[in-house]
Amino acid sequence: MLDKGSMRPARIINCTKISETLYHVEIELLKELPFKPRSPQFVMIWIPGLESIPMSIAGCKENLIELVVKPVGRTTLSLVNAKQGETIGVKGPLGKALKLDGSGKYLLVAGGSGLAPIKMLHEELESKKIEHTIVFGGRSASEIGDISGLLRGTCSRIYISSDDGSIGFKGSAVELALRLLEAETYTKVVACGPKPMLKYLAKGIARFRDVETWVILENMVKCGLGVCGSCEIDGSGLLVCRDGPGFLLEEVVEWLEVK
Ligand SMILES: Cc1cc2nc3c(=O)[nH]c(=O)nc-3n(C[C@H](O)[C@H](O)[C@H](O)COP(=O)(O)OP(=O)(O)OC[C@H]3O[C@@H](n4cnc5c(N)ncnc54)[C@H](O)[C@@H]3O)c2cc1C
Ligand code: FES
Repeated sequence: MLDKGSMRPARIINCTKISETLYHVEIELLKELPFKPRSPQFVMIWIPGLESIPMSIAGCKENLIELVVKPVGRTTLSLVNAKQGETIGVKGPLGKALKLDGSGKYLLVAGGSGLAPIKMLHEELESKKIEHTIVFGGRSASEIGDISGLLRGTCSRIYISSDDGSIGFKGSAVELALRLLEAETYTKVVACGPKPMLKYLAKGIARFRDVETWVILENMVKCGLGVCGSCEIDGSGLLVCRDGPGFLLEEVVEWLEVK
């Protein structure tokens, strides 16, 4: 059997636009993964002729994996524009899974493509019947699109925020999450989104001392296997691809504070 460091052949089977900026991509693996992935593990996606890029696993059932892709450059654009049936390579699952605490109540906070690991975590919490709330934020209703369609479940509540107030709470996902933390008791917060969002969360959440906070980070991932050092969190020795991409906030707070 191929190990997690081997590139597996796979086929793109579907790509749906879910908002102005996000796409839901479904991929069929022609050779199964070596073990079942768990959030926030990721895969390296290789499109022939282009670079391999890291993508969080947003869902996985048998030989089908789901991605939530925000096209920002050559490879992500090729991924969302790929034809049905196009062959790609998939390496993984990479990174560490979060340990889920069955007795806790979780607050999951996502912005942009940060929705991908949060969707996967939501499905794991659902399957273990662990209570959780999801906050997803964007600039406007068009950036939110149909994300509720992706996040169905029974033991979760979903709150939406938009900067311009065109849908849901008027303000950022972090502002909304902090309001929820004031009103209700949560034991864990898990957040994924752009660095400025996580930096703002780090500042605001400092006063909720009993809440364990995890942040899922992105950095320049190249090998994905802890070998090249490209994804090191400045001078800390921590590698996003090996030690993360989920980290306890206190481990990485200084890195978040740097511009
Ligand atoms: C662990 C991890 C999980 C990720 N999960 C997702 C996801 O679920 N959905 C999603 O849309 N995006 C995700 N990303 C970001 C995604 O990998 C980049 O957007 C992508 O590599 C950009 O490639 P490009 O060729 O399209 O754009 P480029 O033009 O090459 O780059 C555009 C920008 O993307 C970033 N980037 C480029 N190469 C990399 C790289 N090798 N690693 C990290 N960032 C890079 C840089 O900020 C760059 O300025 C993840 C990144 C990491 C590290
Ligand atoms: S990407 Fe090579 S060490 Fe993390």
